[in-house]
Amino acid sequence: MSARPQSVKGTRDLLPPEVEVWARVEETARRVFALYGFGEIRTPIFEETELFARAVGAATDLVGKEMYSFTDKGGRSLTLRPESTAPVCRAYVEHGMHSLPQPVRLFYIGPHFRYERPQRGRYRQFHQIGVEMLGGKPGESDAEVLAVLVRFLRELGFTDLKVLLNTVGDSASRQAYKSKLVDYLRPHAERLSEDSRRRLETNPLRILDTKSREERELLAGAPRLEESLTPASRERFAWVRARLSDLGIPYEIEPRLVRGLDYYTNVVFEIVSEKLGAQDAICGGGAYEGLVEELGGPPTYGVGFAIGEDRLVEVLPESSPARARRPGPVVIRAMVRGGGAVHGGLDVDAADLAEELRSADIPAVSVGAADPKKAHAAADAFDSPVVVIVGSDELQAGTLTLRDTRQRREETMSKPDALARLKALYGR
Ligand code: HAM
Repeated sequence: MSARPQSVKGTRDLLPPEVEVWARVEETARRVFALYGFGEIRTPIFEETELFARAVGAATDLVGKEMYSFTDKGGRSLTLRPESTAPVCRAYVEHGMHSLPQPVRLFYIGPHFRYERPQRGRYRQFHQIGVEMLGGKPGESDAEVLAVLVRFLRELGFTDLKVLLNTVGDSASRQAYKSKLVDYLRPHAERLSEDSRRRLETNPLRILDTKSREERELLAGAPRLEESLTPASRERFAWVRARLSDLGIPYEIEPRLVRGLDYYTNVVFEIVSEKLGAQDAICGGGAYEGLVEELGGPPTYGVGFAIGEDRLVEVLPESSPARARRPGPVVIRAMVRGGGAVHGGLDVDAADLAEELRSADIPAVSVGAADPKKAHAAADAFDSPVVVIVGSDELQAGTLTLRDTRQRREETMSKPDALARLKALYGR
């Protein structure tokens, strides 16, 4: 460690006032999710490594390369959660939630960890806002989860986002397709990147969402997943598409969308933003039919999504209600009129006044006997609408001076009038 410790690569401090925007985004999520009956779940930050290996798939990049895994002092292999679908399903089974009225609707907000190369929009500690709907009906659950997602994004002021939608079919569809895809790609293996050649053996579907131009050209002639869908998967997808149209949810079919985690079946989706550059996915999700069973529960239909909150905040529209700043606290400054040294008592008077305002629910900070420049710098930093000056004259006369920081005007009035004015200003 250097003489001045710094935050770890890929992590960052979120500071005021930006955190206010995050808090507003999270408030909106809680309000919208509650409208649809979702309840908050808080799972631990770390889990047994085996949970993710089993749920997400040992051959995925997430499990193979990106996990923060460590051995604790008891010799257990633990992993900082890289995602929360697996922990939520683990909790569903562990707490017997399948015997509650179904479906069970859960949401989560919090930090997640992936050892990836940091770049714009990609961090090693990042934050997800996600929902999981467990034990519902296929199709209906998919549509409801997409409805809550779109409602949330609209309330944040997004107007032009589209859901990219695809189906990866059921496992029979995928088995059939995998062998067709491998048969097609194998003779061209020399045109594939090293990663894709490895995936040819481990996870061939992942090659479909390659970003390399050469591979995309090669894939243009590949058999299409759609042609391998079983009738049941085909029907399911048609039903969901019709339902989304009925609900007025804008979507676009993206045949290349396959997602990076192994638990998905049938419907998968993503939302991307052009404003983000290479790491353009704001949200990813889809259905998973075998996961709860894989973790020891009964066969259970699951579907959900996770939004990357860091990315969401980055592309939040300028006009988003989550960006509207609340007025900062009243800044209280003590001063002696007519020059001369400030006697210590005025600092205390200013602090007392701050406490009096707070008891009327008016936010206030005292800067004590600061010079006007310092007081105004504090008001700027807090985005305060008003500075209150409590001076020796004012104290004697029972008045206060209010300085409107926007109009740059001062007005002296009786203390009760000043309190009434401040209450009105803060809507108290
Ligand atoms: P995911 O696509 O791996 O899906 O992640 C969801 C979102 O998290 C991404 O779209 C992205 O916005 C954000 N994200 C992922 N990694 C990073 C990173 N390193 N830095 C910043 N943001 C990141 C899942 O995690 C699934 N559990 C989603 C899900 C829920 N599927 C069904 N239910």
